Amino acid sequence: MGDRLWWKHGILYEIWVSSFSDANGDGRGDIPGITAKLDYLADLGIEGIWLSPINTSPMFDTGYDVSNYCDINPLFGTLKDFEVLIEEAHRRGIRIIMDLVMNHTSHLHAWFIESRSARDNPKRDWYIWRGAKNGKVPNNWMAAFGGRAWEWDAHTQQYYLHLFLKEQPDVNWRNPELRQAMFDMIRFWLDKGVDGFRLDVCNFFVKDARMRSNPFGLGPYPRPYDLQKHIYDRNQPETHDILKEFRALLDEYDERMSVGEVACDEYCGDPPLAASFYGNGTDELHLVFDFAHMNNTWGAPSFYERIKTMSSLIPGEGWPCHVFNNHDQFRSMRRYGKGPDAIKRAKILAALLITLRGTPFVYYGEEIGMQNGKIPRRLIQDPVGKKYWPLHPGRDPERTPMQWSPERNAGFTTGKPWLPVNSDYDRVNVENELTDRNSLLIFYKDLIAIRKQYPALQQGDMIPVIEGQDDIIVYRRGYAQEKLLIILNFSDKNRRVNIAELGGQVILSTHRFANQTIKGPELSILPYEATILKG
Ligand code: GLC
Repeated sequence: MGDRLWWKHGILYEIWVSSFSDANGDGRGDIPGITAKLDYLADLGIEGIWLSPINTSPMFDTGYDVSNYCDINPLFGTLKDFEVLIEEAHRRGIRIIMDLVMNHTSHLHAWFIESRSARDNPKRDWYIWRGAKNGKVPNNWMAAFGGRAWEWDAHTQQYYLHLFLKEQPDVNWRNPELRQAMFDMIRFWLDKGVDGFRLDVCNFFVKDARMRSNPFGLGPYPRPYDLQKHIYDRNQPETHDILKEFRALLDEYDERMSVGEVACDEYCGDPPLAASFYGNGTDELHLVFDFAHMNNTWGAPSFYERIKTMSSLIPGEGWPCHVFNNHDQFRSMRRYGKGPDAIKRAKILAALLITLRGTPFVYYGEEIGMQNGKIPRRLIQDPVGKKYWPLHPGRDPERTPMQWSPERNAGFTTGKPWLPVNSDYDRVNVENELTDRNSLLIFYKDLIAIRKQYPALQQGDMIPVIEGQDDIIVYRRGYAQEKLLIILNFSDKNRRVNIAELGGQVILSTHRFANQTIKGPELSILPYEATILKG
């Protein structure tokens, strides 16, 4: 496949495996289902797929609780199915990125079963065990999903640590054997031809050696069940040593990449913290998600500010990535959609995402404008929703089945879908949108196609022209002699912008015909207009 920079130049697409496409009719998406949709993805023009966890798992946290790292969850298929997916994807020039969940395993992982069997078991120290302190928990740490982070094990009379559910015991990265076992597992998948990894909560790996209690404190998004500053259970400096080792391992192989999830308060972003996981730009992760957009409000100034902040923090040789949607946050259609303007806004976001300097991540269904689903309480699957409904509906609403067609169950399954299909599927679906020139899907396809065509969009520099004033963002992208100008009007009003001596020919626009020539200095732009010019 040849091009070392695939993860910089192309679009990466996140698939929530349970919800993408069901090949065997059991109501849940699976690996053969994804293979069957590779032509759709190739046609969309994406470069790689990040799959939500597919390893064997009892699914207490929808797969983020792995009970066997080197095998595939039977709900999703077999190892053979996965090998076929890799082969078929590669044949179409599409890379495969796996989710690596290495902060914790399932409590049903053989390592943990051994570890909890006796205090002197050789794997005891692969997890984090502590005795009671004056009859109480070892310290005050709270789990990310609420409650104490310690679970009492009656059999061996000690507590084990779990920063998420009690069914997700944290491993002990300070133990060299555990570390080796994790790295061996990574090699197993690299040898199978996996092209990259998304690292789950990679800032949680190492814990304070003295296990000190966290101080009381309110973060920017205080949750009533977690009023502490997580300074001892997260973000320990030793985590960076692990990531350096991990990077060295990836670098032994050709063209492999990594992208890290750096979780903080409600996943809503901490740009300096996220940027620190790039290391010096070449020795830790290739990409790190910046979640600042997930708590954003609509408007050019706030989007621009966040983009500027993160790019100023990334080290010289690092490369940005951009993400507006994922499986943990309400969909952008829900956050920013506004009545009849919803699709217009979605197009502005699409144009921004695909033309910014950095790697865009698209979450399945984002390209057709999928909304959050409405999940009745009795059908909630996500442990967060089960625990906190109605305060928090959990994360099922952004994980509903992909809407392929106006057929029954939106063409996702012939069985009973594991989560209800959104009620708008008769209108919002791939089949309809492929035949509608004005659809969001066609706009995404056109954007992705021009990104492939113009090196300036893949790897060019980015020079701001209007930085959010008047609800407008304008920037130039340039590479060698090629110069592009991107104009985005976030407002529902006509605006005049001064583009001085800039201008050029329209290559893609929500409102203008291609090839039309546009000149400065003053340009009148329409409500929610996105236009890309070639100078
Ligand atoms: C990450 C995942 C989330 C999961 C958690 C625990 O934040 O994105 O879905 O619940 O880690 O593994």
